[in-house]
Amino acid sequence: MNRIESTGSSSDLFGPAAPGDRLVLGPQAAVLRGFSFPQADALVAAIERITLQAPLRHLVTPGGFRMSVAMSNCGKVGWVSDRRGYRYDPRDPDTGLPWPQMPAVFLQLAREAAAALGFSGYVPDACLINRYIPGARMSLHQDRDEDDAVAPIVSVSLGLPARFQFGGFARSDPPQRCDLLHGDVTVWGGVDRMRYHDVMPLKEGEHPLLGAQRLNPTFRKVF
Ligand code: SIN
Ligand code: FE2
Repeated sequence: MNRIESTGSSSDLFGPAAPGDRLVLGPQAAVLRGFSFPQADALVAAIERITLQAPLRHLVTPGGFRMSVAMSNCGKVGWVSDRRGYRYDPRDPDTGLPWPQMPAVFLQLAREAAAALGFSGYVPDACLINRYIPGARMSLHQDRDEDDAVAPIVSVSLGLPARFQFGGFARSDPPQRCDLLHGDVTVWGGVDRMRYHDVMPLKEGEHPLLGAQRLNPTFRKVF
């Protein structure tokens, strides 16, 4: 069952959640409500710059399906998928160029969010940028392409709300459910690092800053 936070309920799905609130998902996993809200404009501007250089694209899964979420990356390596499999690549396969550098505002936010869960000194190598439009979803998976299976995933929610499901270590374990709102940051590492999770199809809507989309930079320590 979901553990209900004391305040900051998701009655207003477009406004910021109450900053400082924390929805506990596990011993080393939580949603930090509104944690990135003060940096939201700077994060969106940085994503615009990154995606001019490394455009968002719909990757194909090894099984041949086109992903509904459009993706790009910044950092030393970027997560990519094609018929050969999933991997981290130091270059953007579409352009042959290195991925854009990770902006300072990204690094600092990721470090502070990780530290809030007890992961000090977090320096991500990769930031996968997910763009959801209404109907787009991310099916149930574990993040297991990284060598470091302890350092947290730090996932920032910007724009339209998304229904997130955070499960257990087996695909069939019943998940906790919550809505991720603009400004929320989800962190899972340590004993919770390998938990299954998914994102339900994004609902139609218009976010005041981002319109009909959700932008979701997710930080990873790969090496
Ligand atoms: C992911 O698992 O990469 C996506 C998480 C999210 O959309 O919040
Ligand atoms: Fe994931």
